Amino acid sequence: MQERLTVKDIAKHKGGEPVVCLTAYTAPYAKIMDSHADILLVGDTVGMVLYGMDSTLAVTVDMMVNHGRAVVKSSKRSCVVVDMPFGSYQESPEQAFSNAAEIMAQTGCQAVKLEGGVEMAETIEFLTERGIPVMGHVGLMPQRVNAYGGYGYHGRTSDAKKKILEDAVAVQKSGAFSIVVEGVKEELAREVTKKLDIVVIGIGGSPACDGQILVSDDMLGLFTDFKPKFVKHYAQLADVIENAVKEYADDVRNRKFPSDEHCF
Ligand code: KIV
Repeated sequence: MQERLTVKDIAKHKGGEPVVCLTAYTAPYAKIMDSHADILLVGDTVGMVLYGMDSTLAVTVDMMVNHGRAVVKSSKRSCVVVDMPFGSYQESPEQAFSNAAEIMAQTGCQAVKLEGGVEMAETIEFLTERGIPVMGHVGLMPQRVNAYGGYGYHGRTSDAKKKILEDAVAVQKSGAFSIVVEGVKEELAREVTKKLDIVVIGIGGSPACDGQILVSDDMLGLFTDFKPKFVKHYAQLADVIENAVKEYADDVRNRKFPSDEHCF
């Protein structure tokens, strides 16, 4: 039987072979990605990618549980990490524990991810000390989009860079097994990776990070509302699907489908 990667296996990648991470929200994606990705992140980007929301803010614990369950059930090898949605952990360490425990118990995932640095350190420690592995997330934290006023890159001033480094160190000290660094200049992502002993996963970061993550629908050219600078399209699935749908529609309208072979 295929052994599933644990957070300990992921930690061993520090300074070695880069960790391959992708987001996955559904059973078919999880099945396809499982033998290639080390980490499948059930990200709260599910709200934007699958539900057409403008931001991740309206995503709920129930949504994360449902998508997390599908991804765990349909994968065997990858370490599955589920995002804690906005409002499910910021109030208190106890609130965070209760929601993280629900997510872990209901999905069978290996860890949860939450956004925040120094101000979330107490909460991360509360979770990790009670057996919940945590992946941190600093730099651009999409759940704070309203406070930022947009999704531009972070760490523009020396004070802002210092703050991101402090945040990353605080997340490590509180027991997180890895951390996502999003939307910062290459130089800063490199510095964070060098400074920390835990695995640093970049998105809009640096090739020097210990691993990379992309939103799978971005990478596959399926989510085409906008394309951030750091996204590389490895396929043009939106075009593939549109062509297939067009062909099907033409066939139905011209009575070419179903043909004899598709009829009982
Ligand atoms: O929710 C998400 O998909 C994420 C990744 C972009 C890192 O947090």
